Amino acid sequence: MLETKIASVKMKNPLMLASGILGLTKESLEKFKDAGAVVTKSIGKKERKGYKNPVFYELSCGILNAIGLANPGIDEYIKEIKGARINLIGSIFGKNEEEFLYVAEKFKPYVKAFELNMSCPHAKKLGMEYSTRKIRETVELIKQVGKPVFVKLGVENILRRAEKAIEGGADGIVAINSIKAMAICIDVAKPVLGNKIGGYSGEAIKPIGIRCVYEIAANFDIPVIGVGGITNEKDVIEYMMAGAHAVQIGTAIYYEGEGIFKKIAKKLKRWLEENGYNSIKDIIGLALKN
Ligand SMILES: Cc1cc2nc3c(=O)[nH]c(=O)nc-3n(C[C@H](O)[C@H](O)[C@H](O)COP(=O)(O)O)c2cc1C
Repeated sequence: MLETKIASVKMKNPLMLASGILGLTKESLEKFKDAGAVVTKSIGKKERKGYKNPVFYELSCGILNAIGLANPGIDEYIKEIKGARINLIGSIFGKNEEEFLYVAEKFKPYVKAFELNMSCPHAKKLGMEYSTRKIRETVELIKQVGKPVFVKLGVENILRRAEKAIEGGADGIVAINSIKAMAICIDVAKPVLGNKIGGYSGEAIKPIGIRCVYEIAANFDIPVIGVGGITNEKDVIEYMMAGAHAVQIGTAIYYEGEGIFKKIAKKLKRWLEENGYNSIKDIIGLALKN
């Protein structure tokens, strides 16, 4: 009932771990065996230390983070994930197509698909400012590595960027990343984050994610993976009715732990049964038709 498939990636349910959440070690990734698929932390060609502390700040209505794409670099990372017994998707960032390609080729034996992170809100040209012009050729190049390619986009200019990814042959669009944002500590009159600007995630961004998924699904014929503010099965249903084929969960894991996948899958199945649906696929895009 919950099984689904995006490109050649088969999933026992449509719930995926979002990139950047406990995705740096094999042990932490393997905790998410109840998820349909698990996305790694975004990995680059070389090690990056990330930004200075604080990199994480909790607000009453979500989380601000500016980790700064800290990661050990792909050569170290593959030693870490070798042998992981999960449906793994490799998230990649880079400053140009050569860097994306380097990481994709190293990732290839260990992952079922690539997710190209072209939307980190606090990493400039390594993220949301990755040139729209370069998206098409980057996707075309990574497609040649021989695995499905998903492209992760943020709110800015999303339809134009999705169009370029699709022209390059993307197999799916992941929407959205955290949203560029900031908070000030009024006691010291300074931004709370070490990097000043960060990404905002959690429940409050869900309506923005829903809007992006809906617009992509309404304009293009490509599977969309919805992400942003999902905390329960009703959020999943909402994203899927807006046109998502699968969803990812990030911030909610800080509050509920890895058990959230089992819990949501169970409630999702019950909701489908109670509402007379035979398969999760039956609800995809329903709100687009109405
Ligand atoms: C601490 C933290 C680190 C993140 N790191 C990454 C990352 O490395 N790559 C990426 O594509 N997204 C990253 N994200 C964004 C999430 O994958 C997701 O798109 C975003 O948080 C919205 O979903 P949520 O509201 O369920 O958290 C990160 C989010 C958080 C909170």
